[in-house]
Amino acid sequence: MAYETIIVDQVDGIAVITLNRPDALNALNLQLLRELLQALEEADRGEKVRAIIITGSEKAFAAGADITEMADKSFVDVLEEDLFGSEAARFARIRKPIIAAVSGYALGGGCELAMMCDFIIASETAKFGQPEINLGVIAGMGGTQRLTRFVGKAKSMDMHLTGRFMDAAEAERSGLVSRVVPAKKLMEEARGAAMKIAEKSTIVAAAAKESVNRAYETTMAEGLLFERRLFHSMFATEDQKEGMAAFREKREAQFRDR
Ligand code: HXC
Repeated sequence: MAYETIIVDQVDGIAVITLNRPDALNALNLQLLRELLQALEEADRGEKVRAIIITGSEKAFAAGADITEMADKSFVDVLEEDLFGSEAARFARIRKPIIAAVSGYALGGGCELAMMCDFIIASETAKFGQPEINLGVIAGMGGTQRLTRFVGKAKSMDMHLTGRFMDAAEAERSGLVSRVVPAKKLMEEARGAAMKIAEKSTIVAAAAKESVNRAYETTMAEGLLFERRLFHSMFATEDQKEGMAAFREKREAQFRDR
């Protein structure tokens, strides 16, 4: 499939999707979002892909939704097309682990896209922000909900109301990103994390992802029950037998996704 706004590269079971609209700092227009979703769905279906990385350029992961494309839309336009609604829903259905490798600006929809991934690895140059208030709108792809859950109400309110940016150190301190590395090491670190995931059983990785995500959707008691039932179901897999046998035999497990 030929894409115009993203580059897809697949090596050793890792699909790397690079946002590629350099002239607009990877602003998310509908074409880019649709190409991204198509690439993600293809990677999710692809038997060889075991983990996915989404990244941008050194200067920008993505500087937000494309303001030029949105500026003249009316309320009825965005309501009728349910702007970004179907894209967000399709993203949420991807079952393979997705890492966001963020360098430079991750603003507005760019910050929201990074937060939709399963975890974020940031370079020291990363800047996160929800500056939509400066444009006379609010976040529309999860920013008010996800950022608040990640960093808490105080910092989320601060960012949504003042539009200020958060640097990588603050983002790590606040729980928005899992690791911060020097800019030159970003892709090496992200690939390393993806390779670690790729060694695991895809069935078990998908279950872990589903269960962690459940924490954001339900009560503690229901979440614990959901986790326990999924945990129980792992005992129906060959990979559980292999993983525990390998431990007892003091060797590396060879998972077969069965
Ligand atoms: C369209 C954008 C853009 C955007 C940057 N560009 N961000 N185009 N939509 N979100 C374009 C600029 O117009 C410019 O094009 C080129 O990219 C380079 O940007 P500059 O501003 O010249 O770069 P710089 O001075 O380095 O400033 C970088 C920046 C600034 C601080 C990131 O570009 C900026 O503030 N961008 C907007 C950030 C933002 O408000 N994001 C939220 C968008 S709303 P030209 O042609 O002039 O060279 C949103 C709503 C989400 O995301 C709702 C749900 C998804």
